[in-house]
Parts: sequence; structure tokens; C-alpha cells
Amino acid sequence: METAEITSRNRAYWEAIAAGRTGEPVEFFRAGGCALEDRELAAIGDVTGQRTLHLACSVGDEDLSLARLGAAEVVGVDISPTHLATGRAKAAELGLRVDLREGDLTALDPALTGFDLVLISGGGLCWVPELEPWAATVAERLVPGGRLVISEHHPLWEVLTVRGTGQLAVTSDYLDPHRPGYHDPRKAPRVTWGRTEPLPDHTSFVWSLGRVVTALLGAGLVIRSLEEYAQPELYDGLGPAADALPACYLLVAGRP
Ligand SMILES: C[S@@+](CC[C@H](N)C(=O)[O-])C[C@H]1O[C@@H](n2cnc3c(N)ncnc32)[C@H](O)[C@@H]1O
Repeated sequence: METAEITSRNRAYWEAIAAGRTGEPVEFFRAGGCALEDRELAAIGDVTGQRTLHLACSVGDEDLSLARLGAAEVVGVDISPTHLATGRAKAAELGLRVDLREGDLTALDPALTGFDLVLISGGGLCWVPELEPWAATVAERLVPGGRLVISEHHPLWEVLTVRGTGQLAVTSDYLDPHRPGYHDPRKAPRVTWGRTEPLPDHTSFVWSLGRVVTALLGAGLVIRSLEEYAQPELYDGLGPAADALPACYLLVAGRP
């Protein structure tokens, strides 16, 4: 299937569930809440006065947070107009200047360039059908000295399904990204859990850490750090073994 067709089907899927995905309420931000975790903030570093680009930004909660942290220009790109509209309404209520715009992370507007930070997080990378061209595009969007931060579900978590206490099954393919990911319904967005009406077909991809690192190096980026960490609630029902497995990772790469 061509990338454009994959993206078009994926857009239909995200639009179908968009009404139920509103992110953090405005009150959360008003009370000083930040949608970025401490370890993400440490990886991102100081954004004061910087230009940031967030790919697959959804309702833009991270972007509202970056604006709050003092970024000078905050751009978020997503294919789902309904998610973006939700984010824009929140930004307006909060009086924050964020540019949430419709776009495809596999075919970014050439005008989107000169960023100090490119961020992709929380289930964005799995929608990239071809990693090498995507990495090259991202590298081009960074200023020299700029950084890419990937804060993602771990690909090992993506291919494992909890079958009971201490028991896991391999339900996808860590090594072959073109075996579609997310066979496990519990890895789909929470809003779909228990839903009985059918949803549009969609396609996601499992990108192993080896492939991610190799694609970024091939695009001329330098890997600054790569941290894998547990998040036991993502292996719900597994028990104590969930502490011994990576569920997420955080990678920082820089443009020399
Ligand atoms: C799980 S969310 C992203 C994570 C976000 N941080 C969150 O927690 O909601 C996935 C997002 O990817 C977007 N998406 C999927 N394919 C895309 C593409 N080709 N280009 C841009 N956005 C895409 C979807 O519309 C959706 O908003």
C-alpha cells in the first residue's frame, strides 16, 4: 500500500475516535499542570525563546506546555482536524499562542523549518510508514545544534501482550516493521477499549530501537542519549515482572 493511502486510512481512523479524545482539561493547565513528564522535560531542556515543532501532536497538550515553558514559537502538526480543533479551542481559552496545523508527518510542509526542537511522543512514531525518509526530513527541519526528542512506547512493549501474571505472548514482530503493529486491542487508544462499533481500518508500524538509531545516524544526526524505562501500568495484569521490562524510551538526537 502507498504511503498516501496508509495516511488517508489512518486519518479516517483518528477522526472516528477524535470526539472522545480531548486530553487534559483547561483547568489542568490553569492549575499549572504540564503535559510533559519530568524525564521528558529533562530531555527537552530549556525551550525559552526557541522554535518547537511537535509531530503527530493530537490535541496539542504538549504544545500548550511548551508555550507555557516560554517557547517563542510552537507548531504542532497532525492529520486529524478534529483533534486539532480541540487543541486550538484549549489554546484560545488559555490565551496561549500555539500553531496547531493540519499536516502529514510523512510529507511536511517545506516551509516548516528552522526549529530548535522537534518532538514526537506517546504513540506518534508508529504512524511513520518509512523511517529513513522521515528521519531525513526531521534532520532538515532542525537548525544546526537543534535536537530531536523521541519519547515513545518501547517497540518491545508494542509486540508483547499480557496473558496473565508473569505471562507474555509475542503478538507482533519486533524485527519486521511491515508486519502491522498493535494486534493487541489494549495497545489502541483508551477510548476504543470496550467499543463494539467497528472502526476504520488503520495501519501502524513497529520500529525497533536498532532501526530508529540507524535511521537517525543515516540522516546525519548524533545520538546524545537513549533511555529505556519501565512503566508497569502499560503491562497491566503482568504483576511484578512489569518492573523488569521496558515500556517506553526516550531518545535525544542532535543536528551537529
Ligand atoms: C496517540 S496520538 C499521539 C500522541 C499524543 N502525544 C497523544 O498523547 O495524544 C497519535 C496521533 O497521531 C496522529 N497521526 C497519525 N498519522 C499521522 C500522520 N501521518 N501525520 C500526522 N499525524 C498523524 C493522529 O491523528 C493522532 O492524533
